[in-house]
Amino acid sequence: MSSKLIAPSILAADFANLQRDIEMVNNSDADWFHIDVMDGVFVPNISFGMPVLKAISKHAKKTIDVHLMIVDPDRYIKTFAELGSDILTVHYEACTHLHRTLQAIKSQKMKAGVALNPHTNVSVLEDIINDIDLVCLMSVNPGFGGQSFIENTYNKVKQLKDLIISKGASTKIEIDGGVTNKNAKQLVDAGADVLVAGSYVFKSDNQIETIKDLRGIANS
Ligand code: DX5
Ligand code: ZN
Repeated sequence: MSSKLIAPSILAADFANLQRDIEMVNNSDADWFHIDVMDGVFVPNISFGMPVLKAISKHAKKTIDVHLMIVDPDRYIKTFAELGSDILTVHYEACTHLHRTLQAIKSQKMKAGVALNPHTNVSVLEDIINDIDLVCLMSVNPGFGGQSFIENTYNKVKQLKDLIISKGASTKIEIDGGVTNKNAKQLVDAGADVLVAGSYVFKSDNQIETIKDLRGIANS
């Protein structure tokens, strides 16, 4: 069994001390940087865009996992590749031609991810799962950090895991929103591979320890 991964969400970092927080992640047991890009249209919030991602990439020494919460993401695939994204995740709800979008992401040498809003059933991925490297299951409504975890996510993880196995796919399952030490184990037991954690990590008094604990729980 491969290790379960922890991806701190930079949305919850202190933007006035961004380099410090990036170095903290570099020096921690975390596996990936999770970067949330919001456009104020697909979600009711605007986070940050290209110049900030460029600054993050300059210092980040781990996999950069970019979660696009934007409409018409096809317009920016090449730009995100140039800015150092290793994984580029688009929302199912934002893509009319999802297959084409995924091919475009892969043609830029990135791993291709698809995120599902809490109300979107995993069965919509039945005919495309073999083309997806990562499915990001939203366990909150996208747009903000610090929201509480939606319990129905456990069922979705199980359904998605069954779909991946039945299709012989090698897709990883990522959980995004409200992840803490309280739900990490149950998520992994249901089939999750990657846990995104924003507030839980950055609001803690000892961020390095919190990441270590969470990774320990996920791999216990
Ligand atoms: C929400 C973002 C999440 C968010 C998670 O739209 O996609 O990545 O940063 O934050 P927490 O862990 O605080 O729920
Ligand atoms: Zn995210």
